[in-house]
Amino acid sequence: MEKNKIIEEAKEILIKNFQKEGFTIPCEGLYPFQWKWDSGFIALGYAYFDIPKAKKEIETLLDAQWNNGFIPHIVFHTDSDTYFPGPDFHQSELHPQSSKKWRSTGMTQPPITGFILEEIYRVVEDKADMLSFIKKCIDKVYRNHQYFYEQRDPKNEGLVYIYHNWESGTDNSPIWDDIWDTMNPPEYEFERRDTTHVDASQRPSKREYDHYLHIIEIAKSHNYDDKEIAEKSPFLIQDPLFNAMLIKSNESLINLYGLIGDRSKIAQLKKWQEKSIQRYNEKLFSEKLNAYVHYDLRNDKQIAYVSSSSFSPLFAGIPDKKRAEILVKTMQERFGGDDKYLCASFDPTNERFNPKKYWRGPVWINLNWMLYYGLKEYGYKELSEQVKNDSIELISKAGFYEYFDSRKEIYVDKNKGGYGGNNFSWSAALIIDLLHN
Ligand code: DGY
Repeated sequence: MEKNKIIEEAKEILIKNFQKEGFTIPCEGLYPFQWKWDSGFIALGYAYFDIPKAKKEIETLLDAQWNNGFIPHIVFHTDSDTYFPGPDFHQSELHPQSSKKWRSTGMTQPPITGFILEEIYRVVEDKADMLSFIKKCIDKVYRNHQYFYEQRDPKNEGLVYIYHNWESGTDNSPIWDDIWDTMNPPEYEFERRDTTHVDASQRPSKREYDHYLHIIEIAKSHNYDDKEIAEKSPFLIQDPLFNAMLIKSNESLINLYGLIGDRSKIAQLKKWQEKSIQRYNEKLFSEKLNAYVHYDLRNDKQIAYVSSSSFSPLFAGIPDKKRAEILVKTMQERFGGDDKYLCASFDPTNERFNPKKYWRGPVWINLNWMLYYGLKEYGYKELSEQVKNDSIELISKAGFYEYFDSRKEIYVDKNKGGYGGNNFSWSAALIIDLLHN
């Protein structure tokens, strides 16, 4: 497909997925509400052709912020029976400070809104107009960061925890298998909806869902209290992607507050930032794997697997040049090769790799988007171009899917490597940005 045609199709997808209530669904059927990190990527796509919608997307998300600064992973602005688990399962009202206006989940997702605001500012022509919008909403984003540092960092390390795999964004990564091995949840009875929209072989198993629901039940039994969760949740992880997003967003807030002129917020953000970057480099790098990895706070050990999250610190400027070089070598050795598209979501050399299943191996456009900018920033021009061109090629061959098979052979006869939801909003939104670069 040629460039303009891709852009036009991508815009159509976003427009079609926009809901009259002022937010955009990730895709029809499978994900019928507003998701936190999706909304950020989507807003960036709109910034190229419909600025009011870009602003609206951010406003509707921030409107669901809780009184303690928390921003939920799904906001249930509307009713829908195509998704499980919905608002009646999550019961966000259990938390005393939850939004009285919107029901939501009681978990969050990677904090990308900060850097999205800066990206949108980069893209738009009318900087004054965008800055006045940013002035109106930036303190809410700041309060979200404050929430993370004050409520999600029990050891005061500058690294925040997640208590659920759905908070990571990389929902059923094989990394979580190690945690499931430490748990034995009941066999819940429930009606899955996701497998009515998508082939079950591309989605998590029933047993995996038992684990997912069980951690929510535990959090609910503590009324979603962060302190209690930190003490009791069997799933307690310092995630390299999540923390890299927070660090990248800190940097953007520092830059944006610089334009606005708020010295005290800048000073606080710099304090958080310095500590976070230092501890991230000390604690989340594995000398054995030559990559950043997840840290299991509950069992006090690194989880020794390489995934696309391992390279996300490049996007946030976390490694020094020497370590960036090591990281790039790891990426090329494990994830590269003429027979593969970059960048698989999980280590293709590991036995747990599955190129068809959700986050267990396929390529995701949002991670590629981060890797493109990260590699470019560190001066890896050729590799960054490869990540960008692979992303464009996957979409032009297979369509605007949620995730893509990383094996080139799949696309030879029939272009069948697109999996999960189709007409997927962030794939559309981010390809618009990549094609403008
Ligand atoms: C799902 O239902 O799989 C969602 O991605 C959770 O965020």
